[in-house]
Amino acid sequence: MSKIKTVFQCQACGYASPKWLGKCPDCGAWNSFSEEKQSPISLKSFAVAEPQCLSKIIGGKEKRTPIGINEFDRVLGGGLVNGAIILIGGDPGIGKSTLLLQAVAKITKDKEKATPHSPQKTKDKTVLYVSGEESPEQIKLRAERLSINSDNILLLSETLVENIIKTAEDLKPAALVVDSIQTIYTEELTSAPGSVGQIRESAAKLMFFAKRSEIPVFLIGHVTKEGAIAGPRVLEHLVDTVLYFEGDRGHPYRILRTIKNRFGSTNEIGVFEMTDEGLMEITNPSELFMSERPLGVSGSTVIATIEGTRPLLVELQALVSPTTFGMPRRTSMGVDFNRVNLLIAVLEKKAEIHLGGMDVFINVVGGLKIFEPAADIGIISAIVSSFREIPVDAKTFLFGEVGLSGEVRAVAHADARLKEAAKIGFKKAIIPKNNAERLKNDLGLTIVGVKDVEEVIENIR
Ligand code: TYD
Ligand code: MG
Repeated sequence: MSKIKTVFQCQACGYASPKWLGKCPDCGAWNSFSEEKQSPISLKSFAVAEPQCLSKIIGGKEKRTPIGINEFDRVLGGGLVNGAIILIGGDPGIGKSTLLLQAVAKITKDKEKATPHSPQKTKDKTVLYVSGEESPEQIKLRAERLSINSDNILLLSETLVENIIKTAEDLKPAALVVDSIQTIYTEELTSAPGSVGQIRESAAKLMFFAKRSEIPVFLIGHVTKEGAIAGPRVLEHLVDTVLYFEGDRGHPYRILRTIKNRFGSTNEIGVFEMTDEGLMEITNPSELFMSERPLGVSGSTVIATIEGTRPLLVELQALVSPTTFGMPRRTSMGVDFNRVNLLIAVLEKKAEIHLGGMDVFINVVGGLKIFEPAADIGIISAIVSSFREIPVDAKTFLFGEVGLSGEVRAVAHADARLKEAAKIGFKKAIIPKNNAERLKNDLGLTIVGVKDVEEVIENIR
């Protein structure tokens, strides 16, 4: 009798090893290995494909159907592509199920177009919503809250992936939602639902189903404490699109961010507000983020950042106060902690602003996260403004990257940033000198081009 082959797999990253290991050599996680049955993904349902001539392929013809929620369609690259498999990750309670239920309601409102193959016009679109977490009654409660009611939304409480696929194959819905992939399992493996092996196998089966049937599939995934979708690497490689739904529990704003997209650009964001009646789209986020800004206080600056193709004005706050303990504290929320430390060092060395005995706290207002270095001179200005207790002019905004020798470096998309700020009523821009020299039009703004950190500090008063 042949022995069942098993393999030890890291539950954090999916690294496989023939024997148990205490520490994962790939991602460095401790005590993360568990035994999984080895089973190669079966490819037998696929016929061998023929190579095609590049010149004979008709491009740009992928069928894309907008969902009808603009902010959602934007992150998808313009709409839902047939047969796409989309992973939506996020913290528990952030609103993933709400978002998908609203999306599903929009999809079913859309009538199916008549095609030469099915001339019977305007057939209703149906969507299959599979939940392994909630009962249909619980979903009904949520739907009532969202004022969603439809004969075309079909709810299924099921966790066995083979059954889900069979039901979906019979129904042929316009889309399939699986809430959440961590609760789904395949009978081919003996490990518990939620383990890396189960997640990967179930997701792979759903992927083959999506490709075979051309039905778009949404997978909802929970995020672990460390901020990664459980079994992240395996899933991120498998799916076409990875979206993160993020936000701060204390704030109503939610951001849907593209991490990977085979059918569109990445780093695109959609902005929503969680209200009593569900998620509302925010079409002009800059205006919203500016609306609660305190004027005339020190430590607050506005930066013009770019999220994907979209300029966004965001308020940055710094609080600099004398340390009461021996070690000064440095905290940053919404911007990279190491970046803040680096900028503090640049300030010390190049601008002789001594923060050695000071606690420095940095916060991006609205629970946003900013990854691009164009925020650098904004962080510097906020710190200096708080340190010296001089407010930055309320109609001034900034952007620019700071290098290690204190120089201010040019950033991309300067025109788009300036345009967005001018639209909201800003008057003065402090920007890298290199960008200022290459500007096409001035949009009625006073532009100050700066070449180093010292010039930034001179100009924020
Ligand atoms: P949910 O979609 O269940 O989150 P997830 O699927 O990501 O775990 O959303 C749960 C939260 O959203 C919960 O705290 C209640 C809140 N909520 C609203 O504020 N308004 C609403 O209309 C709905 C449906 C939920
Ligand atoms: Mg949920």
